[in-house]
Amino acid sequence: MKLVKLLANLGYGSRKDMQRLIRYGAVTDASGRVLGENEVPPHEEIRVRGEALDPAAPLTLILNKPAGYTCSTEDPGETIYELLPPRFASRNPSINPVGRLDKETTGLLLLTDDGKLLHRIIHPKSHCRKVYHATLDRPLSGKETELFASGTLVLNGESKPLLPAPLEVLGEKEALVTLHEGRYHQVRRMFAAAENHVVSLRRLSIGGLSLPTDLAEGEWRELAPDELDAIFAIADIG
Ligand code: URA
Repeated sequence: MKLVKLLANLGYGSRKDMQRLIRYGAVTDASGRVLGENEVPPHEEIRVRGEALDPAAPLTLILNKPAGYTCSTEDPGETIYELLPPRFASRNPSINPVGRLDKETTGLLLLTDDGKLLHRIIHPKSHCRKVYHATLDRPLSGKETELFASGTLVLNGESKPLLPAPLEVLGEKEALVTLHEGRYHQVRRMFAAAENHVVSLRRLSIGGLSLPTDLAEGEWRELAPDELDAIFAIADIG
């Protein structure tokens, strides 16, 4: 790939801007030698204004999503992209959330520019179960476990029943819910069907990958290869 295209795809600016940047001498190799438009050394050796390049595609990020950020640029308000370096919103291929979290839901969110990986994670056949911690407005009635596990619960406005979703009661108003699919506002609507209301919701894990304890809310980093493997590393048939 030509240098102009490489930089433009990484979100550094338009192709025209990148031509100017290169002509200006701001793109060098690791030793500081100015690169021409037709030179493309290995990714890790390229510098823009002396700084190493952003990671090449495919890129997968793990974010501890705070409340108050939407996952879609089509929704009003602040988006999760505001928590990432501004260049990341202009990359090609684009970085997309792997299944959305609602604006007020917190916790584990993956983002990737790898379409195959995204579909592999969200496809029900991958059995990448997602575990959510829900805090409720009213005490659990005791009937929720059976209702959610039944495989017959139909959410308001839908016709297809939900897959069984195990519930682990942690306290009077607190529970873990495990989903094997991702319908719109699913956990909130499940508790609404049980005449309750979710006060706060946090995603704790996707497949065998748990939210790292050292990743504070609002923080992100590149997903490590062993974390990627962990996503698919649990046999999940229940
Ligand atoms: N269920 C919800 O209700 N919201 C989410 O963000 C994820 C699952």
